[in-house]
Amino acid sequence: MTGRTESGTPFEPVYSAEDLAGFDPATTLGAPGAHPYTRGVHPGMYTSRPWTMRQYAGFGTAAESNARYQELIAHGTTGLSVAFDLPTQMGMDSDAPLASGEVGKVGVAIDSVDDMRELFAGIPLAEVSTSMTINAPAAVLLLLYQLVAEEQGADPAALTGTIQNDVLKEYIARGTYIFPPAPSLRLVSDTFAYCAEHLPRWNTISISGYHMAEAGATPAQEVAFTLTDGIAYLQAALAAGLAVDDIAPRLSFFFVARTTLLEEVAKFRAARRIWASVVRDEFGAQNPKSAMLRFHTQTAGVQLTAQQPEVNLVRVTVQALAAVLGGTQSLHTNSYDEALALPSAKAARLALRTQQVLAHETDLTKTVDPFAGSYVVESLTDGLEAEIRRLMGEVAERGGAVQAIEEGYQKLEIERSAYDVGLQIDSGERVVVGLNRFGGAEDEPYEPLRVDPALEAAQAARLTRLRAERDQAEVDAALAALSAAATGTDNVLVPMKRALAARATVGEVCDALRAVWGVHRPSDAF
Ligand code: 3HC
Repeated sequence: MTGRTESGTPFEPVYSAEDLAGFDPATTLGAPGAHPYTRGVHPGMYTSRPWTMRQYAGFGTAAESNARYQELIAHGTTGLSVAFDLPTQMGMDSDAPLASGEVGKVGVAIDSVDDMRELFAGIPLAEVSTSMTINAPAAVLLLLYQLVAEEQGADPAALTGTIQNDVLKEYIARGTYIFPPAPSLRLVSDTFAYCAEHLPRWNTISISGYHMAEAGATPAQEVAFTLTDGIAYLQAALAAGLAVDDIAPRLSFFFVARTTLLEEVAKFRAARRIWASVVRDEFGAQNPKSAMLRFHTQTAGVQLTAQQPEVNLVRVTVQALAAVLGGTQSLHTNSYDEALALPSAKAARLALRTQQVLAHETDLTKTVDPFAGSYVVESLTDGLEAEIRRLMGEVAERGGAVQAIEEGYQKLEIERSAYDVGLQIDSGERVVVGLNRFGGAEDEPYEPLRVDPALEAAQAARLTRLRAERDQAEVDAALAALSAAATGTDNVLVPMKRALAARATVGEVCDALRAVWGVHRPSDAF
């Protein structure tokens, strides 16, 4: 690995002015808050407002998750981030046969508007910004959120938050897809259009490289495959009749931060520069906001170790530094015990405290883009830009992200990179402290957080009650209207909201769409 970045570009032992010969700060950097946004999307960056501290959380029932959010808010978190359980992510109710054993495990179980109401009880949705990690059924969960916010008296036009809604990367790396690519992209475009009209401050998608990185993508692959997914969403929206400046300002991104701090800082700067030129020069956007790559960062879970878990606090600090030095808008710092189980309350608190130390005890918020002009970081930024553009070209040659996905291209490239890293760890060439070197320390006993197994039956009983209480004829009529919209070209979110308000469940709404659109079956290339 000596002499190479994680992306495979050269890494010199010494950089000097010669490496920046021909470097023109006016065009390649610009001012902070100005095209091409290499130095950040706002003129003042953290000197005006620090990044959002947004800790991903959720497990068990809506009530349990609500308690964790209240705790995070009390400890000073500045944004919410909801983790849903796998059945919810797959558009299934808690009492569906396939949900068995998974209810409430990796996130909160949400079946209907009743659960959503409980999830945000006592949390003023007009005042907080909420991210929801939900993809194939993103529209459904967004509408449930809107319904609850309206019940609280909030004006939908004022609601701020983000749905992940990035189904393309689900085919590449994460796996919670439902429908085939074409209707999935149609649902995304319908959601863009609905938000532009009803929820103008909502970030309609979080185009994510994080999960690709966790699956093994190099930094260059992570950015290249994410930006080409972004291009595919823009193309789909334009083909559906939307205008680039109506939707691009509300696209957002999501990347990882690794312990290789210098390369990560360069990665974030290169990503902003490339996206700005793609959106302005290739899509013809006029609104400067369209070209700003705004992103959330999560520290690299895959770099955490179950051995000597407290060492993870150090890793997370370095990773978080990389995100902040790279100009992130929002940050999740992982808990030190995440390689073992869902975060305990203490570990979750320490993760947030890490961000608070960076924001309030260091001088990181006193100036913008501190690495600008650095021989090494500018050289790495240029090198990464070239490598990312080369990989974007590979995707374009295959006809774009969707076609490349169908060929299995991105997944295969990521698997190759993951395999290489595995070999390097096994051989000891890549040092992981406590894992393949400096091991043997006695760890204190660790008590993991466990989800109550009785939860599943309780959630199923709640659904039985809901189905007995609601007006079934109203639900049936609303679901029929949803099916009709899915069959034709009307925006599906409008009848979907009516169905959810009548207490149709997440599973029922997704089943109605499955019946019309079918489900995605990966090709052999997968
Ligand atoms: N000067 C002027 N204005 C500023 C400013 C500055 N320095 N900094 C911020 N602002 C403004 C912004 O313009 C914005 O105003 P607007 O809404 O009118 O445009 C407002 O202040 C809020 O700031 P940001 O938009 O920068 O910050 P947010 O936190 O609201 O949004 C985001 C950040 C990246 C755009 C958004 O998409 C987001 O929050 N994403 C989070 C995604 C997330 O948490 N995902 C979790 C994934 S976990 C997962 O996938 C699970 C597993 O599988 C790993």
